[in-house]
Amino acid sequence: MTTLADYLNQHATNPALNDVITTVTDVGKTISQLLRKGALADILGEAGNQNVQGEDQKKLDVLANDLLLDALAKNAHCAGVASEELDDATPANDDGSLLVLFDPLDGSSNIDINMAVGTIFSVLPYERQGQTSENSDYLQAGNKQLSAGYLLYGTSTVLALTIADKVVMFSLDPETSDYVLIEDNVQIDADTSEYAINSSNYRYWRAPMQQYIDELIAGETGLRGRDFNTRWVAAMVGDVHRILCRGGLFTYPFDTKYAHKAGKLRLMYEANPMSLLIERAGGGATDAINRILDIEPTDIHQRVPVVLGSKNEVNYVKELHVNYSK
Ligand code: AHG
Ligand code: MN
Ligand code: MN
Repeated sequence: MTTLADYLNQHATNPALNDVITTVTDVGKTISQLLRKGALADILGEAGNQNVQGEDQKKLDVLANDLLLDALAKNAHCAGVASEELDDATPANDDGSLLVLFDPLDGSSNIDINMAVGTIFSVLPYERQGQTSENSDYLQAGNKQLSAGYLLYGTSTVLALTIADKVVMFSLDPETSDYVLIEDNVQIDADTSEYAINSSNYRYWRAPMQQYIDELIAGETGLRGRDFNTRWVAAMVGDVHRILCRGGLFTYPFDTKYAHKAGKLRLMYEANPMSLLIERAGGGATDAINRILDIEPTDIHQRVPVVLGSKNEVNYVKELHVNYSK
């Protein structure tokens, strides 16, 4: 049996990174316990406020955010924290060498119906050690991430993590409270017949995305010549986890539903960490055309269209978009 602590000792060459990953995953244990108690812990329902993105916050969005923020602020290696739920990044310890970014609770609409939710995190290097960190310090492309991962609070709690060049998974043992290694080299098949998209937004998509989904729905009667199946968890963590387990394509594409947004998902808290995991497991991750990990961010809360998963399928979506714009 290999625990997360064993794995980090054996594989992470950076002790500071070990330490912040341990802090985040320890908080994950607390969030997991609260979720197990559910309504009995008075954690369900609305918090009564909106976040910087204009979204209604759930009690658990706020609670998970505060737990992570408090724990990371005490970590000497953490120079600052940026969260989907906070207007601005919060400086932590000026001498720290790492910045931690997170979506404290992904899939908020699932909380009150007892469905899967998660926590997504990303770690970036801090280049101005000794000085107080600011929003601009976080504006680094996803390819600079030192580590990324998520906790999925599902029927069991699972941690997917990438340090160095591998993606690994751990399961939280509720009896010992240890994360135990269950997969030591996750790989995604290049081909798939499963896809995830919120089709109710069809009329807001661009023509090549409409064409792509039309082709999948036509199945064996269309030019793809085989049937496809839809799965949609409504929490990116759940959909990405399924893809790491058995392949698939997940997309939240560009849409014109809200004029000022390029897509729904957030580059720094969702798209970048998930893209790092997916690429390191052999999959692809684009905004339909360009590699997500190469996007130079201009705002910590910016949004981006996302197409990720089995490589051949991600490339096919790209082909449709490139051909359309020719
Ligand atoms: P969050 O709960 O952090 O705001 O993120 C929810 C995201 C993502 O997890 C999921 O894929 C998507 O929103 C669900 O969108 P729909 O509301 O369109 O189903
Ligand atoms: Mn989210
Ligand atoms: Mn969230």
